Amino acid sequence: MLKHFTQFGAELLANPRAIGAACPSSPLLARRIASLVGRPQQSYVLELGAGTGSITAGLLRRGVPMDRLIILERSASLVRLLRRRFPGAIVIEGDAADIHNIVQDQLKLSTSDFSHVVSSLPLKSIPRPVAEKIAAGIQDFLCHGARLVQYTYDLRNGSTSWYERLGHVHSSVIWLNFPPARVDLYSAAGQGRPARSHNQGVRRQVMANSNF
Ligand SMILES: C[S@@+](CC[C@H](N)C(=O)[O-])C[C@H]1O[C@@H](n2cnc3c(N)ncnc32)[C@H](O)[C@@H]1O
Repeated sequence: MLKHFTQFGAELLANPRAIGAACPSSPLLARRIASLVGRPQQSYVLELGAGTGSITAGLLRRGVPMDRLIILERSASLVRLLRRRFPGAIVIEGDAADIHNIVQDQLKLSTSDFSHVVSSLPLKSIPRPVAEKIAAGIQDFLCHGARLVQYTYDLRNGSTSWYERLGHVHSSVIWLNFPPARVDLYSAAGQGRPARSHNQGVRRQVMANSNF
């Protein structure tokens, strides 16, 4: 655990905007995210910006099969850590802006093979044009009906504006994280409220089929 904090700190010093967080995610944040994903058996889960793997560990603990989890991380040293920590998982060193090429050309999978995208990407801290490109790619990726779980440290509004083509399904705040984080669940438009209309602040919605 200390090793993860140390490596995270080194990455933060080297590339603060790409890391965009003070420390790895807490087990509670990981548990909440994992509860929104559940235990898909026939489909894949794509995790973007896995960092030291706190969320990854939560997903696996909750029952996502190791061989159904595809982890994408840009930092080479964090990729090495993730491969050591999760032998058997598919860890790709790459940029979230290239998810379509990575999934289709490298992995020979289709977007319809995925039920969930889990994003730890710090969209607010990376350069805006890059964040917009990534968000557009993620929204295209969900066209077959997969769901997106994204967290942010902006508790007022924020990440919802990146995904205006998606419906906002659920939001909750995890206070036991440093800093506290808001977890948002999105689905293809029509299955939730338009993301933009949510952009007024933190709201809690109880999802009829939520499993936590
Ligand atoms: C907030 S940190 C994730 C922290 C992680 N949940 C943990 O507990 O360690 C964001 C991660 O996204 C990665 N990242 C940033 N931009 C990226 C991009 N364009 N493609 C892939 N990964 C990216 C960073 O390298 C970093 O590991």
